[in-house]
Amino acid sequence: MTKSSSYHPKYALTRWLDARLPILRFLYNLGVSFPVPRNLNYFYTFGGILTLMLVSQILTGIVMSMHYIPDVTLAFDARERFMRDGQFGWLFEPWHAVGSSFFFIAAYIHLARGLYYGSHKRPRELIWIIGVLIYLVMMATAFLGYTLVWGMMSTSAASVISGLFKAIPVIGPWLHETLLGGFNVGQPTLNRFYSLHYLFPFILVFLIGLHIWAVHHVGQNNPTGVEVKSPSETVPFTPYATIKDIFAISVFLIFFAWFLFFMPDYMGHPDNYIAGDTMTTSPHIVPEWYFLPFYAMLRAITFDFGPISSTFGGVLILMAAVLIWLFVPWLDRSKVRSARYRPAFKLFYWLFIADVVLLGTLGASPITESSVFWSQIATLYYFVFFLVIMPFLPKFEKTLPVPSSISEDLEKREAKAKTRWRLW
Ligand code: HEM
Repeated sequence: MTKSSSYHPKYALTRWLDARLPILRFLYNLGVSFPVPRNLNYFYTFGGILTLMLVSQILTGIVMSMHYIPDVTLAFDARERFMRDGQFGWLFEPWHAVGSSFFFIAAYIHLARGLYYGSHKRPRELIWIIGVLIYLVMMATAFLGYTLVWGMMSTSAASVISGLFKAIPVIGPWLHETLLGGFNVGQPTLNRFYSLHYLFPFILVFLIGLHIWAVHHVGQNNPTGVEVKSPSETVPFTPYATIKDIFAISVFLIFFAWFLFFMPDYMGHPDNYIAGDTMTTSPHIVPEWYFLPFYAMLRAITFDFGPISSTFGGVLILMAAVLIWLFVPWLDRSKVRSARYRPAFKLFYWLFIADVVLLGTLGASPITESSVFWSQIATLYYFVFFLVIMPFLPKFEKTLPVPSSISEDLEKREAKAKTRWRLW
């Protein structure tokens, strides 16, 4: 990728500014002249969608915090009051709540895209690792935000999830007390969670800055997984990628608006419309949909394993399920980057996606003998995918011929499209 700048300030004022603080040059290089591969598809618009969702979450969150009262006796009512009587409260509150679900939808598509096209592989390992850190901070932020509602499910989730920390040997009880600010969920817990929920999005901004910087430094991967060979295989970010991003964002926002205006409570749980009570726990605890696969894995561990209790085992599996992503660049031993040319991997990949969906469904269902059995099978495949298929499949798989360049792939596709068109 060329790193020289084609920015030439036209006016006296912009020339003056450029000589002192080249901020316009920086923005131009970032959003106008950045060369992107010519063959990017719509899955490459999710980075832009995620950036927009983060800004939207921060702005709506700031407005809501102007009305929120972090007091265990007032928090639930303050939120209700803002929704009913506050200035645009009817809009901001569901915007923020539905927004968090759509943020996760976009993140999961973005992540699955990266895994499919092998974007985690050299030289993009750090982009991927920073992405995993972003995901971890997103998880923490979403969990903390959910507890701020101080409904029945919020307080139950706060006590059950923080209770898991107690299972960690030696430091568990100390960690639990530090997290809650006491022995139980209470006023100090709410203060802590509110403070951290406000802080974490700014850590996200920092991490996303690093993530995008790294993308700009090494350049984007593309659906072939073949590196750009010449400048003619790229187009400038503006107008090509910008127009595509704007179109994708518009379609995404149509779905978002549909949920926001017609089904704002669809993704929530009815128990969270009952004021929270730290003395009682909801009989059937269900986390938000985006945590369900991990919750199913946590519940799948129903047996002690030597000195490891079932609860601690569940916590370990839960942590491992996300932390294993950090090692994906090294677990994937294939020389071919994109799954497009790996028919066998493609099969296991789609099975993995189906497996995660199954785990999500199991995470929402009450515990029965069969739900535990299937959760255990699905958890097993989840880890087999990372620890067996990724490293060992490349030894046996037969890959398809990989194009020597992006241009060759585009020419082949164009020729194919023309023949198909003629047949019509
Ligand atoms: C708020 C969250 C995130 C934001 C705002 C974000 C933003 C972006 C942007 C703008 C790009 C370049 C455009 C694109 O390829 O779509 C990108 C690329 C990438 N992101 Fe993210 N990202 C986020 C989360 C993640 C996560 C959770 C992962 C994976 C664990 C991840 C992995 C990657 C990878 C591997 C690339 C390079 C893609 C390629 O070149 O093929 N990102 N991200």
